[in-house]
Amino acid sequence: MDILNTIKERRSTHSFKKQEVSNEILKEIFTYGSYAPSHYMTESWEIKLYQSKGKQAFIDTILSSYQRIGMINDDEEPKTLQMIKSMRQFLMAIPHHALIYFEKPEDPVRYEEEYASVAAFIQNSQLAAWEYGVGMLWTITPYMHDPLFMKDLGLDVNQIKIAAVLQIGYPEKVARNKGRTPIEEKLEVIKE
Ligand SMILES: Cc1cc2nc3c(=O)[nH]c(=O)nc-3n(C[C@H](O)[C@H](O)[C@H](O)COP(=O)(O)O)c2cc1C
Repeated sequence: MDILNTIKERRSTHSFKKQEVSNEILKEIFTYGSYAPSHYMTESWEIKLYQSKGKQAFIDTILSSYQRIGMINDDEEPKTLQMIKSMRQFLMAIPHHALIYFEKPEDPVRYEEEYASVAAFIQNSQLAAWEYGVGMLWTITPYMHDPLFMKDLGLDVNQIKIAAVLQIGYPEKVARNKGRTPIEEKLEVIKE
């Protein structure tokens, strides 16, 4: 295993094969994720993993939220119904959706610590997944801020922050490496 190579070669996955990833492998992946740093060792990441028939209600909840927040028209016009149908098909074709959330502390510093740690968990998981030939897409979308979306999933909006939804599966296609800005352009060394 060459972690430095994996860091550079991992790509966000936008199209997935139909084949599911076994839950044993996903557990391994999230176990590696959980070696993320965590201040006070709170390990605050929580995961709801939606797959096979479990995706249906989750995707319906997403689509209802999209309509509520105006990303899809809230009517029965043929164009709207067609859009809902194709979005449902698109989302159903993704083998796994992992909702990553954490209990949000009231204190803003503690909140940042938890959020940062959960982001590290996500990136560790992405890197571990790549080692297993598994692709992920880290997504943040407006429905994550819709209180009714959270309620529909049984999450208390006053206590919980959704950090991301990870789309997961074996990559159908690997995106090209876009490279990165030379770090010299970002790095300011202060010596005195
Ligand atoms: C916090 C976060 C949210 C993201 N949300 C989305 C998203 O909603 N949709 C998407 O297509 N990509 C999303 N991405 C993936 C980025 O577009 C992707 O990492 C970037 O284009 C670089 O590509 P690479 O991951 O293949 O190196 C997100 C990435 C991060 C870190």
